[in-house]
Amino acid sequence: MSESTLPPIQPAETAPKPVGPPEPVGPPEPVGPPETAGTPETAAPPEQVGPTVHLRISRLRAGDRKPHFEEFEFTPEPGATVLDLLLEIRRNRDPSLVMRHSCMHASCGTCGVRINGREALACDTKVAGVTAPTVDVEPLVNQRPVADLATDMVDFYARFEAVGFPLVRSAETVGGAEPPEGVKAYTRFENCIECGLCLSACPISRTDRSYLGPAALAAAARVADEPRGQPLGPIFAIAAEPDSVWRCRDAMQCTAVCPSAVDPARALLGLRRRVAFGRVRSLLGRGRQ
Ligand code: SF4
Ligand code: FES
Repeated sequence: MSESTLPPIQPAETAPKPVGPPEPVGPPEPVGPPETAGTPETAAPPEQVGPTVHLRISRLRAGDRKPHFEEFEFTPEPGATVLDLLLEIRRNRDPSLVMRHSCMHASCGTCGVRINGREALACDTKVAGVTAPTVDVEPLVNQRPVADLATDMVDFYARFEAVGFPLVRSAETVGGAEPPEGVKAYTRFENCIECGLCLSACPISRTDRSYLGPAALAAAARVADEPRGQPLGPIFAIAAEPDSVWRCRDAMQCTAVCPSAVDPARALLGLRRRVAFGRVRSLLGRGRQ
């Protein structure tokens, strides 16, 4: 057979394609939730909502015969303090609320109140830590009430002066000076922020208004321990008065509520020991030491 008689060759493009191995198939692309019509793409996550808190504030105004509770409802942010809620009331619900505060961090001693019957600093009390469903906030006791949560602290401060403890120091500390030997023994009382919680918690101060009270007697103990040159006779004379160290009944409530770990009860007991010791020595004719 000659070449011209060969059958025509099939064009390449019409030839059947060779079949290769199937291409690997990847995992399906993750499918997100269906978009909600109208939802902005950058929507913030929903806010955490805590349990509802019923805050009852003691209210007292000029002319009132006795205080009464006024209730406010909150859904506080996690970590909110009682002072945060009080400020929220004053800013946005009732600007007439009378209260004190300053530093917001347990240093100035001005926000002392009673929370569910217990003395505490409002700025240092987390709402979440109060387990009762209702949080009652009342002013300190054993001090003259002024209005709502504010009390008159003048009498409390005067007690420090009575025992010779200066509320305002007479000289500034010298920068960079080395603290004297043994100063640590006094730093405990140095931490007193004059908040008055101890006086409010003291059961003796409720029945005897002339009792000097834990903070002033702790100050007297400090003056007796670290006299700074002044004579100690007047301090011991004050401490030996009937309304002084002998009036304490060791309830220890002052130390329990103190936010600065001053331990006024221990200071008071130390002063009482020194007064008793001095009395024995003078009975024996040996003078005080
Ligand atoms: S002794 Fe404690 S509770 Fe009393 S006034 Fe000082 S810091 Fe406050
Ligand atoms: S605000 Fe200063 S101690 Fe609470």
